[in-house]
Amino acid sequence: MRRYGILALAAVFFLSGCGSRGENVVKSIKIGVTVYDQYDTFITGLMDSFTACAAQKEEETGVAINLEVMDAAGSQSTQNEQVQTLIERGCDIICVNLVDRTEPTTITDMAEKNDTPIIFFNRELVEEDLERWEKLYYVGADAFESGVMEGELAADAFLQSESADKNGDGICQYIVLEGEAGHQDSIVRTEYSINTMMEQGVEAEKLGYAIANWNRAQAQTKTASLYAQFGDEIEMILANNDDMALGAIDALKAAGVSEEDWPVIVGIDGTDVGLEAVQNGEMAGTVYNDKEGQALEMLKLAYALATDSGWEEVDLEDGKYIRLPYSKVTAENAGEFEDIRGESDS
Ligand code: BGC
Repeated sequence: MRRYGILALAAVFFLSGCGSRGENVVKSIKIGVTVYDQYDTFITGLMDSFTACAAQKEEETGVAINLEVMDAAGSQSTQNEQVQTLIERGCDIICVNLVDRTEPTTITDMAEKNDTPIIFFNRELVEEDLERWEKLYYVGADAFESGVMEGELAADAFLQSESADKNGDGICQYIVLEGEAGHQDSIVRTEYSINTMMEQGVEAEKLGYAIANWNRAQAQTKTASLYAQFGDEIEMILANNDDMALGAIDALKAAGVSEEDWPVIVGIDGTDVGLEAVQNGEMAGTVYNDKEGQALEMLKLAYALATDSGWEEVDLEDGKYIRLPYSKVTAENAGEFEDIRGESDS
């Protein structure tokens, strides 16, 4: 019985990524991934793209790419354990979507001890933490850019529509729906969207804000109570992401507010549902957060680290960062972004 056990173990080891690098030719690699919350709409889209990119790379190169994806379900200690498990299961490289971006130390220490490179993604750790070991990387986007673009979209929509300034006082009364407290994108998007909107010539007055943790249902509840408080005074809703913008729309619909009386609503991400809302005019605009690009760059980097080949396809900033640009989306160009999605799905 024990002998069979040992044989089985040897077979598993032989078939797994780490055991198959005969004569310097890599036949298979194993990539571990842990996400902060598998129900996050943006992360789900990013992971779908990542899986599709891995399948395509496998076809191109003939190297088998084994993915093992885990959900930390909002717990940093669960995520730390998952990284340990992924290391023990022989992953060549691990992609980590940190639950708490200020707590990468346990993961970094484990990775260094086992010489397993880590690509952090989407939830950005501070530079000093990324500098702690040479094989730590970050793939994401530039939060400032998304805030600026959202502010520009908001200003254009407010200045171009005669009915946006409902009370005609020449001032834009707005509310903000914020993502998780402490997330780089919440902090920066909130500040830069408002500042930019004002720089673009919109005089603005904040009526209130709510933290809705990127979540549609929470945004609906929070908007319902802000609407109960301010009602028709709200002329603009700046949401840190599309899901929260859509939650605000859910609240307006539930309150029976007719669409011509809705405030101007802008979001960020360009998720499927977000693009649809821009196309049908429910949202004035969104900012495309290039999940397909982020997934592809992360896969290319993971592949290069695991096989030590394909480095010519990897473009690292300061030896550590890959950041994809954002783009503005309005009803005029929303269709183009649906095409990008379609291409990467096929
Ligand atoms: C996205 C959000 C998402 C968050 C998760 C942000 O970049 O815009 O939609 O919930 O990342 O970390």
